[in-house]
Amino acid sequence: MEKEISRLEEEFQKDLSLVKSREDLEKLRIKYLGRKSPINQLFTQITHLENREEKALWGKNVNSLKEKISSIIEEKLKNAEIKEDRLDLTFPSSQVYLGSLHILSIVNNSICSIFERMGFIVIEGGEIEDEKHNFSSLNIHLQHPSRDVFDTFYLDIPEGNEGRLLLRSHTSPSQIRVMEKNKPPLAVISPGRVYRPDKVDASHSFMFHQIEGFAVDKGINFSHLKGVLTYFAKSFFSSEVEVRFRPHFFPFTEPSVEVDVSCIICKSKHLGKGYEHKCSVCRGKGWLEILGAGMIHPQVLKNCGIDSKRYTGFAFGMGVDRIAMLKYGIDDIRLFYQNDIRFLEQFYI
Ligand code: PHE
Repeated sequence: MEKEISRLEEEFQKDLSLVKSREDLEKLRIKYLGRKSPINQLFTQITHLENREEKALWGKNVNSLKEKISSIIEEKLKNAEIKEDRLDLTFPSSQVYLGSLHILSIVNNSICSIFERMGFIVIEGGEIEDEKHNFSSLNIHLQHPSRDVFDTFYLDIPEGNEGRLLLRSHTSPSQIRVMEKNKPPLAVISPGRVYRPDKVDASHSFMFHQIEGFAVDKGINFSHLKGVLTYFAKSFFSSEVEVRFRPHFFPFTEPSVEVDVSCIICKSKHLGKGYEHKCSVCRGKGWLEILGAGMIHPQVLKNCGIDSKRYTGFAFGMGVDRIAMLKYGIDDIRLFYQNDIRFLEQFYI
């Protein structure tokens, strides 16, 4: 009987090691604990023993084997149940990363939507332009330094009858394209990429983003330009900013201005020359330059077939990268283009 018990135990361990599923486990239970199981047969054999003490001894041994087998099967069944049937709704999910718009797209869209609220429509121009639209029609004469090969990326393909092809160096050609094809009244903004062969550093990139804006109609004057740009600056930065128009020169606008807003970081515009502290954004000047603008030069209107005696217009152009840097205190333009998730995810909205 002793041999039989240890043989049964060995056989059980072997069968157990082959169990792969809940079903196998169930079969194992019936084989070893069922009515016709070898263990039950052992119990029957015990009843035939003569000696009472022997009966008690073997009864105990067979019982402990039965208990051992049943507790092993019980335990395995419990585990299988957890694995197969239970769904733990409190278990932490694996992390899902949702993408977001790039910070430059966010800034670009919010600038455009401010102008859209004022009735401007968005028209995107092309990134490949010709000399006529990038320069000549904008009154930029042949000797102007911006036409130099060191300041513009010319494409290595034969020139057409509108001059050499190039990567546009500003979004102003959009003014020309729209005015050539459409009659006033016009109120348009035109966002997009522009290219200049500048040496890349913290504030220069060979590619950056601009938004051009212009309006042409009868009776448009400088006060319209001031009103539109002041509304924009207060909506985009804060209602508290002040706006300053400084005389400047652009070949395609007359008069021309550069537009500054009071520093949104240190708010120290009134400190003037004698300022003591150093603001890292305005460097103590109290003002931040945000764009160039002016009244569209009558010659530019004429170049596009618009009667400059009846119509006047204003135009402005701003750098999206620069404005995003000012608004969020970003000190290196290269951060926009390095695709470093640690930088980008700060602006997830
Ligand atoms: N095109 C100019 C630039 O790139 C900006 C500008 C646009 C200025 C329209 C005046 C009017 O610097």
